[in-house]
Amino acid sequence: MKRTQIGIVGAGPAGLMLSHLLARAGIDSTVLERRSRSWIEARVRAGLLEHGSVDLLERTGLGTRMAALALRHRGIEISSGGQRHHIDFTEMTGGRGVTVYAQHEVVKDLATARLGAGGDVRFEMEGVRLEDIEGPEPRLVWPGGTLACDFIVGCDGYHGVSRASIPPSALTLFHREFSYAWLGLLAEAPPFQDELIYARHEAGFALFSMRSPALTRAYVQCRAGEDPENWPAEMLWDELDRRLGVRLNRGPLLLKSVTPMRAFVAEPMRYGRLFLAGDAAHIVPPTGAKGMNLAFADVVVLARALARYYRDGDEAGLDAYSETCLARVWKVQRFSMWMTRLLHRDPAHDEFEQRLQGAELDYVLDSHAAQRMLAENYTGLPLDLEGV
Ligand code: APR
Ligand code: PHB
Repeated sequence: MKRTQIGIVGAGPAGLMLSHLLARAGIDSTVLERRSRSWIEARVRAGLLEHGSVDLLERTGLGTRMAALALRHRGIEISSGGQRHHIDFTEMTGGRGVTVYAQHEVVKDLATARLGAGGDVRFEMEGVRLEDIEGPEPRLVWPGGTLACDFIVGCDGYHGVSRASIPPSALTLFHREFSYAWLGLLAEAPPFQDELIYARHEAGFALFSMRSPALTRAYVQCRAGEDPENWPAEMLWDELDRRLGVRLNRGPLLLKSVTPMRAFVAEPMRYGRLFLAGDAAHIVPPTGAKGMNLAFADVVVLARALARYYRDGDEAGLDAYSETCLARVWKVQRFSMWMTRLLHRDPAHDEFEQRLQGAELDYVLDSHAAQRMLAENYTGLPLDLEGV
């Protein structure tokens, strides 16, 4: 039977970064990914990096393309009642800012690094199953192969097979569903300005973002389950302009899609010799673009704990993994929920709730203390990169 130290399911940001960090610590891993390499490298997701994620990529030799392609901003704009307000994160955090670098570019950098270093990343692996995760030698099994592992890490996203392999009675699941979602476009149109705009509008939330100097990314709040076909391009551009209170540069659409909104946490993030990381364990709503950053924070903790285990035989880091990660997960969940509720129009809310929401946003726009809270969380809570 083939063996590896760490079997990783899923080659998204969590799985690839974990494999990269383990390789740097001299630990073997094999990544099994259901999709093709071109699929994972083309999958359009969010595109904001916290300062800790930027440091992580730079420190571990993945900063070259990011340095050339990333866009760096001092802060963001928030639009309320048709007025735009600039919030300067750099001033408020002593030098931190916003880094726009698309998630699929990060995935490309990670895949190139792993495969370039001879890493074992296998694509188009259908039918992967987890066996004996409670025993001393868990296995990854698929039609035609078996891999014995010391540990397995489920980095296979919300719909993956890893979390589903844990007996339901061993997990507590926390969920929030939303009655609204984001309808997004990606267009060949130069962003009309540098900084992102988050808009609270009576017709619903809108967000202006970007992927590069040639690509605009923008979203409007829509109903959950909305069919993008109900929104012809012109109607979507008009609605964006109306809610954002600007005139965006328009261009041909490369993509029009609905991003579902969900908040989810599975506790604990470990069962026997299986660890969960990234979206397999938690989802935050998309406002603030925390998903990939949170996945990186998990695998930094796990890679350090595994390095300690293999170096000293000390399991303390592994035993603390779930608790350590969940402390951050809930803080980031809180922030993403807060930003979501601050800016979206909830159809279930009455006038009283809407007044409260308006007052809260006014307060944020007037208060240095509130803006610091926003700045600290948006640019990223501290990430301990010691030993990485
Ligand atoms: N077997 C193998 N691979 C699988 C399986 C399976 N049964 N199920 C899912 N996968 C793969 C998916 O094809 C995907 O490439 O696991 C990967 C999971 O990647 P992500 O969904 O990107 O999750 P994660 O790495 O945790 O990244 C977290 O990135 O994609 C965003 O919204 C996500 O922002 C979040 C962040
Ligand atoms: C994006 O560019 O996709 C994006 C930007 C900011 C967010 C969420 C998504 O808060």
